[in-house]
Amino acid sequence: MPPDLSALHGPYAELLREALDELSPPAARAALDIGCGPGLKAAWLAGRLAPSGLAVGVEIDRDSAAAARRAGLAALVADAHALPVRPGGADLAWMVAALGLFARPDVALTEARRALRPGGALVVAGAGERWVRPRRWPAGLAAALPAQPPLAPADGLGEELRAPLEAAGFGGVVLRAYLLAPAGLGAAAAALPLLAWAELAPLAPGLPEKVAAACAAAEAAAEPEPLPVLLVAAARAEGGGGAA
Ligand SMILES: C[S@@+](CC[C@H](N)C(=O)[O-])C[C@H]1O[C@@H](n2cnc3c(N)ncnc32)[C@H](O)[C@@H]1O
Repeated sequence: MPPDLSALHGPYAELLREALDELSPPAARAALDIGCGPGLKAAWLAGRLAPSGLAVGVEIDRDSAAAARRAGLAALVADAHALPVRPGGADLAWMVAALGLFARPDVALTEARRALRPGGALVVAGAGERWVRPRRWPAGLAAALPAQPPLAPADGLGEELRAPLEAAGFGGVVLRAYLLAPAGLGAAAAALPLLAWAELAPLAPGLPEKVAAACAAAEAAAEPEPLPVLLVAAARAEGGGGAA
C-alpha cells in the first residue's frame, strides 16, 4: 500500500521539520502558516520565530482552526485566496501540504506575495509519488560530504514549482527534494539519492578514486522509479507588491 503522504505527519514529521528549517530564514517576526490545519506545523513555525514574533495560522475549515486554537496557536478562519493580512505585513509564510489543495494555487501564491514584505520568504512543501532516478551511492560518499549539501535535486525535479512562484512575484527560488522511502531518514540521507554526481563531486574532493568511480557508476545506473518524494521550494517576495 502506498504511504499516506497527505499530511506529512508520523514518520515524515522530523524530516519535514528539518527541511522547513533549512529553507526558512531565521528570526522572522510575523509569520503565516497558510492552510494550517490543526496546527502542528504552525507550532513549529511559532517556535522558530524571533522572541517577540507572532505566527498566525490561516485555515478555511472551522473545526481545524478551532483545533489549532485549542493547541494554543493563533489561527484565523480565512481563505488562502483572500488573506486577512495587510500588504507586506508578514516576513515569512509557509504552505505545507496545502498549495495543491487550493482551488486556485496561482491566486493563493499571489496573495502570499501580497501579504509578504519585499524580501520576505515563502516556503512551500508537498509530497507525492513521482518518477525519480534514485542514486544508490557507495558507502563512503556521505561521510565525505558537508552535513547538508546545499544542492537542488537532479533531473529538474521540482522545477514545475518555479514558474508559478515567479509568475506570482517571487524570485530566488531554491528547491529541495527528499526521498520518503524508507520512512524515518534524516534530511541529508533523504536528499542524497536525488542529487546528481556532477554536483556532488566538487563537494567531496578527497574521495578515494575507487569510491569516486563507484559514484560515477551509480549515477549512470540510476533508473526511473515511482517513489514517494517530499518537495520543498523557498522563494523571496520581490519588491513592488506588498508594502516595504
Ligand atoms: C493536508 S492539510 C495540511 C494542514 C497543515 N498545513 C499540515 O501540514 O498539517 C491542508 C489544509 O489546507 C486547508 N485548506 C484548503 N483550502 C483552503 C483555503 N482555500 N484556504 C485556507 N485553507 C485551506 C484544509 O482545510 C486543510 O486543513
